[in-house]
Amino acid sequence: MRVFVAGATGAIGKQLVPRLVEAGHEVHGMTRSESKQAMLHDLGAVPVVADALDPDQVAEAVGRARPDVIVHQLTAIGALDMRHFDRDFALTNRLRTEGTDHLLSAGQAVGVRRFVAQSHILTYGRTGAAVKSEEEAFDSGPAKEMREAWAAIRHLEEAVLGARWTEGIVLRYGHFYGPGTSMAPGAWGSEAVRRRKFPLVGDGGGVWSFIHVADAAEATVAAVERGSRGVYNIVDDDPAPVAEWLPALAEELGAKTPMRVPRIIGRLFASEAGLMMMTELRGASNAKAKRELGWRPAHPSWRQGLAAA
Ligand SMILES: NC(=O)c1ccc[n+]([C@@H]2O[C@H](COP(=O)([O-])OP(=O)(O)OC[C@H]3O[C@@H](n4cnc5c(N)ncnc54)[C@H](OP(=O)(O)O)[C@@H]3O)[C@@H](O)[C@H]2O)c1
Repeated sequence: MRVFVAGATGAIGKQLVPRLVEAGHEVHGMTRSESKQAMLHDLGAVPVVADALDPDQVAEAVGRARPDVIVHQLTAIGALDMRHFDRDFALTNRLRTEGTDHLLSAGQAVGVRRFVAQSHILTYGRTGAAVKSEEEAFDSGPAKEMREAWAAIRHLEEAVLGARWTEGIVLRYGHFYGPGTSMAPGAWGSEAVRRRKFPLVGDGGGVWSFIHVADAAEATVAAVERGSRGVYNIVDDDPAPVAEWLPALAEELGAKTPMRVPRIIGRLFASEAGLMMMTELRGASNAKAKRELGWRPAHPSWRQGLAAA
């Protein structure tokens, strides 16, 4: 198939493009910068230079590639301050609203068979079962610092799932780790843990589901080839509370045990959003992706995966 990847040069894109090529697909990889064309070429893709926020450029790029499938992996996250989550997500929010709409319009114009878009298990929020399956409700009460990010991801999901002219597929990825992610050695997330700037708040009862970025890419290839309209959680087999994974990660990085701070202090310094992530977050089940996509994570648990990464 001809596959158009928006976000081809990012943490997930760099894992995804060579896997699609290896599987025999003709990949057209989008970037904003002329200078990244060589990298895309080396990954095996046809480079396409376009700005995802410019509808004309997107329409022209997609029109020229005439893909069978579009994959939307556009984000602009960078280092994140939980107290200013929506500020730090402002560009990502635009990519998830305007960017999604431009890609959908361009895809409809050329009649793409599937449209696969990146979402996140954060959408399940903080109430109900500790481990969520796809049919459970979208969080209706996000932390106040995250409301715009919630609205943007909801827009993306509704637009993709509501596109009846194509097979609209939403992949709710778990928390990425591995090369190019914030958890890679030296990156801001793992550095915060190493420097004891990532404390364990309250009981650390928030449940996180991780996914190695290479496994996320494998699942995406499966969705491109045989996904059906709907949502798939793409997570590992081992959802775990912060109280388990944070000390384990610190040990892996050779750091001291994370500091413990009471809820009230956590809220003061990391806001309601940080407190939610530390004490209330829910994990997710990958049963549907395994059953319907025939996918299995090569790193079934972050316990071994983080050490290997
Ligand atoms: N599930 C998760 O946990 C999850 C999900 C996503 C991201 N993250 C984390 O976020 C961090 C990196 O993400 P990131 O968002 O900073 O960047 P990234 O990994 O570099 O990916 C962003 C991609 O979007 C493209 N892009 C952004 N704005 C664009 C625009 N206006 N037009 C065209 N393409 C555009 C970029 O292309 P060019 O720069 O080449 O133009 C790039 O390919 C990593 O730590 C990653 O682990 C985590």
